[in-house]
Amino acid sequence: MKLQGPYRGECQIICGDSRVELAHYLDQVDLIVTSPPYADSRAKHYDSIHPDQFCKWFLTFHKVLFQALKPSGSLVLNIKDKIVNGVRHRFVWDTINELCCNGWYAIDDYIWRKTNPMPGFWPTRLRDGWEYCFHLAKSRTPYINQDAVRIPVGHWVESRLAKLGINDMARHNSVNRSGFGRDLSRWVGKQTVLPSNVISAALVGKNKGHPAVFPVDLPEFFIRLLCSPDGFVADPFAGSGTTGIAALALGRRCVLIDNNEKFCNVARDRIKREANARDEEITKVALHEATYTPEIPRETEEQIRFFEDSSDFAANGKKATKKQRRRTL
Ligand SMILES: C[S@@+](CC[C@H](N)C(=O)[O-])C[C@H]1O[C@@H](n2cnc3c(N)ncnc32)[C@H](O)[C@@H]1O
Repeated sequence: MKLQGPYRGECQIICGDSRVELAHYLDQVDLIVTSPPYADSRAKHYDSIHPDQFCKWFLTFHKVLFQALKPSGSLVLNIKDKIVNGVRHRFVWDTINELCCNGWYAIDDYIWRKTNPMPGFWPTRLRDGWEYCFHLAKSRTPYINQDAVRIPVGHWVESRLAKLGINDMARHNSVNRSGFGRDLSRWVGKQTVLPSNVISAALVGKNKGHPAVFPVDLPEFFIRLLCSPDGFVADPFAGSGTTGIAALALGRRCVLIDNNEKFCNVARDRIKREANARDEEITKVALHEATYTPEIPRETEEQIRFFEDSSDFAANGKKATKKQRRRTL
């Protein structure tokens, strides 16, 4: 069944498995901006997966994410690998690689720089101050509006551009022959510039009723950049509904999916409280109970079952050896 996407200024909240629920929005979504579970970092709070199994687990979402997007659509994945037995596990790199082998284009790797990283001491490393935001797309030329994220040029230009030297009046190539160059005279009169692919935002300090809330600034940046003003945003790992708050503030339509009912309620309450929306828009925020029996596409159902079937993995969660696998056949 194909569902009608939300109306302008509306945010639908759906409690269910996004591998099933997102399949109802085939070819409708402009931007998926989301943050999946970071493997088993929050095992006490919601569905978790061992880092060794993460890549295969995430690939069970690949098809539904790909098919929900319009051809010009984008997927932004905020995630960070974790430390396992003293070293960084590379499940994130493996996953992005595998997604690209399955047809996604890696458009760019953005970094979320945390302006207030968690305090602490680790004998072999420093405080962790950043996370990835991978921009993947269905084509090499997804929708992008760079002007929507321009930033003020900065006060330094007033003094610097006031006294332009001979080297500033034409393109001046770097003296170290790096191939880079600049023409400073072209900056005269500029009010704004493009930002870099490093986004600075503080960790969410206040308790929002969810253990892994990302800052509203993060989805807001990507919605401005990668979703047209009348576009449709989806977050298939919605948690406390942060993406919904950003989407409503920017006038985009939005669907949030989480398989934990408690978090769907947290998201609804939070959006009512925090979304910068008029009353009539807030009242449209609805918790859509799954009143239909979804038809799970055969392949997805099989993929889901793959992870419930322990034959591929040894009891300790590690990938089974050939010998162990033979024993279970
Ligand atoms: C890292 S949290 C997202 C937090 C969110 N960005 C926020 O700001 O609140 C990941 C969420 O994915 C949800 N989740 C895990 N597996 C899911 C699935 N198969 N379908 C839908 N949601 C899922 C979890 O319940 C959890 O709330």
